[in-house]
Amino acid sequence: MKDNIILIGFMGCGKTTVGKQLAKRLGYQFLDTDQYIEDKSKMKISHIFAEYGEEYFRALETAAVKKLIETTHKTVISSGGGLPLREENARLLQELGQVFFLNVSKEEVYRRLKGDTTRPLLRGKNPEEKIDQMMKYRVPIYKNAAEYEINVDKKNVEELVNEIELVSKM
Ligand code: S3P
Repeated sequence: MKDNIILIGFMGCGKTTVGKQLAKRLGYQFLDTDQYIEDKSKMKISHIFAEYGEEYFRALETAAVKKLIETTHKTVISSGGGLPLREENARLLQELGQVFFLNVSKEEVYRRLKGDTTRPLLRGKNPEEKIDQMMKYRVPIYKNAAEYEINVDKKNVEELVNEIELVSKM
């Protein structure tokens, strides 16, 4: 098993915030797949979606994970919220390291992402309904793709870091 830790879950579940602190705690590198794709493509995610569409972006995610399997170790990886949706990606993530699903309630997602403009999939008239629908579809996929599930509601970053650290060392 590779010595990376991967955080998956819905937009706004805290993958990046928790991932950065977890990396500090463990003395690991931190990597965010959205940032990685933006750096490599020299385009913003919103631009990739607008110009090339979601499928194109998903293919970049697959290519990114394949590369990371070859190049990363002792790294906490925060993955884009839709990355595990492709079956191939979910399988690749398990090759990449220990996969943790950060499970957040939809109410918490509404609260955190109200007014967010950086996530193309949540733009539109009724973001709450969109979040609802997307979560219904995605949560079972996240559960299936992950080795461990961590509930994030009502826990602060430090508590989450402690919990993931402990579980990862079992
Ligand atoms: C997406 C989540 C985003 C980003 C893109 C698509 C998704 O990442 O990859 O906007 O499909 O859930 P975050 O989960 O880091 O916001």
